[in-house]
Amino acid sequence: MRRDAAEIAAVVALVRGAFAGYVGRLDPPPSAVGETPESIAELLGREHGLVAEAGDGIAVGCLFLQRRERGDVYVGRVAVAAGHRRSGVGRALMAAAEDEARRLGGVRLTLGVRLALDGNRRFFASLGFTEGALHAHPGYDRPTWIEMAKPLG
Ligand SMILES: CC(C)(COP(=O)(O)OP(=O)(O)OC[C@H]1O[C@@H](n2cnc3c(N)ncnc32)[C@H](O)[C@@H]1OP(=O)(O)O)[C@@H](O)C(=O)NCCC(=O)NCCS
Repeated sequence: MRRDAAEIAAVVALVRGAFAGYVGRLDPPPSAVGETPESIAELLGREHGLVAEAGDGIAVGCLFLQRRERGDVYVGRVAVAAGHRRSGVGRALMAAAEDEARRLGGVRLTLGVRLALDGNRRFFASLGFTEGALHAHPGYDRPTWIEMAKPLG
């Protein structure tokens, strides 16, 4: 993605809007709703951002990629604008993420999904991700999210 103020503002709106529907539904609430232009600019300093645009150049989807140890590339902040869901934007973004992760020398894509979000677990499973270890957010005594991973063939 570009790093100019307009693109960063568009991504902030996209991420905050995409996760806003989980507030009151997820415990703990998603940290993504607290993103700001400063935090996204800071994220871009250490991660790779990908943006999907509609034909009119409006940003309708995004994600971030971070290289981790042992060839893992972590995918975060996967977001598609509510009015553009279930039309293949998320699938296309994840395909672009695989290409970018390979370019970065990655051997596996990893991500974390809230246990409560069955639809998201099905979304990533439909893309070839398998579920792994359960984790709890800090301060929680029960699992709240699950690792998912996909080898980059
Ligand atoms: C999850 C998300 C990125 C999916 O994006 P999308 O553009 O709607 O996904 P696609 O249209 O490419 O879906 C591809 C396939 O994944 C599956 N899928 C996608 N969303 C699903 C859902 N909510 N429930 C069940 N399956 C789903 C379907 O098989 C779908 O194909 P189909 O529409 O032909 O049935 C989007 O819903 C989103 O931004 N949600 C809010 C933010 C979020 O939860 N991000 C992920 C955090 S882990």
